Amino acid sequence: MDHHVKDLALADAGKARIEWADADMPVLASIRERFEREKPLDGIRISACLHVTTETANLMRTLKAGGADIVLCASNPLSTQDDVAAALVQHYGVRTYSIKGEDTETYYEHIDAAIAHKPQMTMDDGADVVGRIHAKFPEALEGIIGGTEETTTGVIRLAAMAEDGALKYPIVAVNEAKTKHLFDNRYGTGQSTLDGVIRATNRLLAGRTLVVSGYGWCGRGVAMRASGMGANVVVCEVDPLKALEAVMDGYRVMPAVEAAAICDIWITVTGDIHVIDVAMFEAMKDGAIICNSGHFNVEINIAHLREAATSVREVRPLVEEFVMKNGKRIFLLADGRLVNLACAEGHPANVMDMSFANQALCAEYMVNQAAELEPGVYDVPVEIDESIAALKLATLGVKIDELTEEQATYLSSWQEGTV
Ligand SMILES: NC(=O)c1ccc[n+]([C@@H]2O[C@H](COP(=O)([O-])OP(=O)(O)OC[C@H]3O[C@@H](n4cnc5c(N)ncnc54)[C@H](O)[C@@H]3O)[C@@H](O)[C@H]2O)c1
Repeated sequence: MDHHVKDLALADAGKARIEWADADMPVLASIRERFEREKPLDGIRISACLHVTTETANLMRTLKAGGADIVLCASNPLSTQDDVAAALVQHYGVRTYSIKGEDTETYYEHIDAAIAHKPQMTMDDGADVVGRIHAKFPEALEGIIGGTEETTTGVIRLAAMAEDGALKYPIVAVNEAKTKHLFDNRYGTGQSTLDGVIRATNRLLAGRTLVVSGYGWCGRGVAMRASGMGANVVVCEVDPLKALEAVMDGYRVMPAVEAAAICDIWITVTGDIHVIDVAMFEAMKDGAIICNSGHFNVEINIAHLREAATSVREVRPLVEEFVMKNGKRIFLLADGRLVNLACAEGHPANVMDMSFANQALCAEYMVNQAAELEPGVYDVPVEIDESIAALKLATLGVKIDELTEEQATYLSSWQEGTV
């Protein structure tokens, strides 16, 4: 099978949406034009495991324009847009293996199909391909020159592998680029997470108590946008600095069990496990809505919820009602998977423009530099980060000042002080 998608008849609808996203991804489009001319990825086999969305499709087009031979699979069983997967196969010639709602077995079969492509480069969102190659297909390591990683959770996993001496090739942590996490994690997750909650539930946020677990880049974005819509935001954190920042930003901060008692809507974005656990379920008020926008579906202890509930039913698409022994109802969105991708469309194109510009330029960087790099996790080169920021500003029509020679000298000297 050279692809596995839901229905190729969806391809035209997918193409139209891919083009719509492309119109709001000018930085990536300008890289694509250059790649078309220069072919920096000529003949390089890439196995990409990313959310199969319109924005990812435009990244695939860019890599292909650069000459890459790509196979794409999903980085989450629920995030695939089936029309986009169909269009990638039918209109853009990208071998794609992903179907929205695929079971865990199919999810890993699709990852294995991407690995069977014998990649020279991996492109991950959550490190599933890297992890699987190292654990199950070590023979595939031989041809690999390097890889890239998109998200915080993946970078944490890779850093742990590198620390153990287990990581066998160099990987650029795209997430660590400022033009990625400052914008994608904050503004992208902020907007699209609320979009997911609203599309799934159609609940009014104004006047509601909305709890955010994790005040990292994603959590800050979610809290900021929820507050802007009139929600009373409560933040739960484990890091005193982040908690203090949340207090100074004007939010109430409290332990999760206390937050449970007042929460109407709860969003976890920590990258941690069992952030909403038994004690919180017990303290929750009737009708609380819970969901996750961190990478894996482990932030909510769903197994316990299923076990402890006296009844479970789907009350709306991707909204499950759990009736607990005390009679209270808890509503879980998207089976605890990324709510912004499962219930909405993921981050808007304009912010993915920068994230995927990083992916494209880091793939080119890997082709040129991999031979010099030891196995390990590397930051995005600062020149790439700055060039993307400058390009993005230009596409937004924003001009900025330049340092004068006097200012440049002053800022790089230590001799001048109070005058
Ligand atoms: N939904 C999306 O589209 C999307 C986009 C980008 C990143 N992510 C994922 O979101 C998660 C967070 O990413 P980030 O960039 O904000 O990371 P981050 O490291 O900036 O922030 C995570 C925060 O969670 C806090 N935390 C950890 N355990 C906690 C607990 N038990 N209770 C409360 N707080 C806790 C940490 O102290 C930290 O401040 C990661 O899993 C990342 O992969 C999702």
